[in-house]
Amino acid sequence: MTDSKIIVALDFPGAASALALAHRLSPELCRLKVGKELFTAAGPVLLEQLMKQGFELFLDLKFHDIPNTTAQACKAAANLGVWMINVHALGGRKMMEAAQHAVSSCTCPPKLIAVTLLTSMNQDDISELGITDSPGEMVLRLAKLAQESGLDGVVCSAMETQLLRKYCGSKFSLVTPGIRPLESSLDDQSRVMTPDAAIKAGASYLVIGRPITKAMDPLQALLDINQQIQNIK
Ligand code: C5P
Repeated sequence: MTDSKIIVALDFPGAASALALAHRLSPELCRLKVGKELFTAAGPVLLEQLMKQGFELFLDLKFHDIPNTTAQACKAAANLGVWMINVHALGGRKMMEAAQHAVSSCTCPPKLIAVTLLTSMNQDDISELGITDSPGEMVLRLAKLAQESGLDGVVCSAMETQLLRKYCGSKFSLVTPGIRPLESSLDDQSRVMTPDAAIKAGASYLVIGRPITKAMDPLQALLDINQQIQNIK
């Protein structure tokens, strides 16, 4: 088990490229995130192969359905032996409680976290849904709801970590994408933070994709980021 705070996003179309990248990294230095594209293409077999290499996995499938269906999906995901799974907080309290209950009955329960508001959604997008909260108010409301429902944490932008850390306490996991080391390209991310700033702001784990996966030397990029954050309390 690693104590690294880095989760490398394996945003690849299939097993071959994902495994090739994983071979260039080390389970001592990071965990890996498998999302909808890769899991849909490669399935549980790939998860087994990655876990056999020693990696702990965040299965990022963002379940959102009626409570019973979400709970059963979470249970099935938990039984794959992954380290972390997630649901959409917008599924509501009953759905999150059912998911938490289902997961906690597993022999080796994964961490269960919630996506609050997708960072792709701005004020106009949420107003169009009939929601009158600002995006910030909504993120805080949904994070508190996830915590009250017994979840272990939320995915949030690095910009939100300070506020959520204040309201949700030190034990609640804050998992933050949109991380860019100073020398990295922004790619399609706009509101980014450096790894050390995100950890200082209260992030528990950093989800990092292209700055590592597209680096000339992914292992060196990972080592460099681990180095930048290792002494921050
Ligand atoms: O390559 P990059 O570091 O931008 O990858 C970030 C990862 O985090 C991707 O897998 C992306 O889907 C995910 N993510 C994100 N923003 C969110 C939620 C997830 O970038 N709000």
